[in-house]
Amino acid sequence: MLETIETISRLRAWRSALPRDTTVALVPTMGALHAGHAALMDAARRDGGVLAVSIFVNPLQFNNKDDFARYPRILENDVAFCREHGVEIVFAPSAAEVYPQALECTVDVGRLADHLCGPFRPGHFRGVATVVLKLFEMVQPHRAYFGQKDAQQLAIVERLVADFNLPITVVGVPTVREADGLAMSSRNRHLSADERRMAICLYQSLLEARQRISGGEKRPAAVVLAAAATVPRSDGLKLEYLEIVDPHTMQPVDEINGPVRVAAAMWVGSTRLIDNLLVS
Ligand code: PAJ
Repeated sequence: MLETIETISRLRAWRSALPRDTTVALVPTMGALHAGHAALMDAARRDGGVLAVSIFVNPLQFNNKDDFARYPRILENDVAFCREHGVEIVFAPSAAEVYPQALECTVDVGRLADHLCGPFRPGHFRGVATVVLKLFEMVQPHRAYFGQKDAQQLAIVERLVADFNLPITVVGVPTVREADGLAMSSRNRHLSADERRMAICLYQSLLEARQRISGGEKRPAAVVLAAAATVPRSDGLKLEYLEIVDPHTMQPVDEINGPVRVAAAMWVGSTRLIDNLLVS
């Protein structure tokens, strides 16, 4: 049986009524659930325990008001989706429940936020780290599942758990893609048919980068140039960044000598998409 919980007090009552030896798994989301989210739920279920999914469009992590306003909100569908995926608890609080007053204390993210999405989304990772810490406090899971699709976010959450000694195992789950390779994302719903066709060039640019690296290219700048050149010149497309970083520190590498993450963000019309590949 699935239960939807909207308040922190009800959540705490549920949590403290669980037998002491129950393990709790949490999949934090912002809803508009798709096969990428399902992969996180499936991984959590395979590991056992009680499965909780949070659905909260977190205002603190949106640096762009329009993006927040038009973020898809389809709670009823999402609850049905969770039911089909064996979720026991959906925690779907309101913004007033999570932020009854403006915060005075937030989680400051250091160098992990200096590159990739960080500079283009000021305050975004502070908002993510803060809400994830709050969700961890509220749900008190033993394990939490995050997608490698948001590799920088995953690295930051892993570090959050280490830095604050949280008794939580963070599990990273591989990116789920559409048949043509486009990474699944709640924002894909915003794409028109034309934009959807164009969007694939984000993944293709990453594949080009991977091919150059596999071919022996060690200079990041040369890889970036070749990968960026695959993006067609079109009014509707703009590559925001394409960077080659160390998979742990998220810092750009001077030379490609080991595993690296190639990550990119691209605007397709008014929709911003991100993707990345680990190249070892
Ligand atoms: P959201 O974008 O809803 O994503 C929730 C989780 O699903 C994240 O861990 C994300 O990496 C994962 N995910 C999204 N698309 C995926 C895909 N195609 N394959 C695999 N995993 C995928 O990320 C957030 O929400 C928020 O920042 C959140 C962590 C909930 C904090 O507000």
